[in-house]
Amino acid sequence: MSLRLGDKAPNFKAQTSQGEIDFYDYLGDSWAVLFSHPADYTPVCTTELGRTAALKDEFAKRNVKVIALSVDSAESHKGWIKDINETQDVEVDFPIIADENREVAEAYNMIHPNASATATVRSLFVIAPDKTIKLIITYPASTGRNFQEILRVIDSLQLTDKYSVATPADWKEGEDVVVSPAIKTEDIPAKFPKGFREVKPYLRLTPQPNK
Ligand code: BEZ
Repeated sequence: MSLRLGDKAPNFKAQTSQGEIDFYDYLGDSWAVLFSHPADYTPVCTTELGRTAALKDEFAKRNVKVIALSVDSAESHKGWIKDINETQDVEVDFPIIADENREVAEAYNMIHPNASATATVRSLFVIAPDKTIKLIITYPASTGRNFQEILRVIDSLQLTDKYSVATPADWKEGEDVVVSPAIKTEDIPAKFPKGFREVKPYLRLTPQPNK
């Protein structure tokens, strides 16, 4: 059965470009981005991994550990990482899972047989420190992901985890947020002392509470 939001992320042991890992041990108390690639030595994947490495400080700032996956071997990953570092001017320092027997890909439904019988699609999971799945996105092999969007969603997930708010369309860190519909309008001033604006009884905006 497919994994869904709110499900527990399956744990696994796997070979990676940095040796064997236990996924949960690797994560500790961090948030996680687990993302799959169709294959090593492919152009779009090379740019995606380069972009991820370039955003290292952004992921660290958000307490996020990154781990990639493709169904090629650890030796292949190590050679490819050299190319990524050279061509994208980065240092890939996160592990890439060598999922040669496709166990992790199967557990996370990263193979979509009608897209490719053998290669993983571009799946991406954001996992919270309690190991629940908070975001699932799937892109085709032909479209590289937007890693600014992934950081933006992580900002929203971490904010809405702490406060009774939601983030509106195209929201970015620092912008006004939506007060949760579960909060009665008369209770807003006590909970959100920075003020609020009622556009409609069901649409109440407030400044981002942790800014
Ligand atoms: C790529 O990463 O460039 C790629 C992989 C599989 C199919 C198409 C593109």
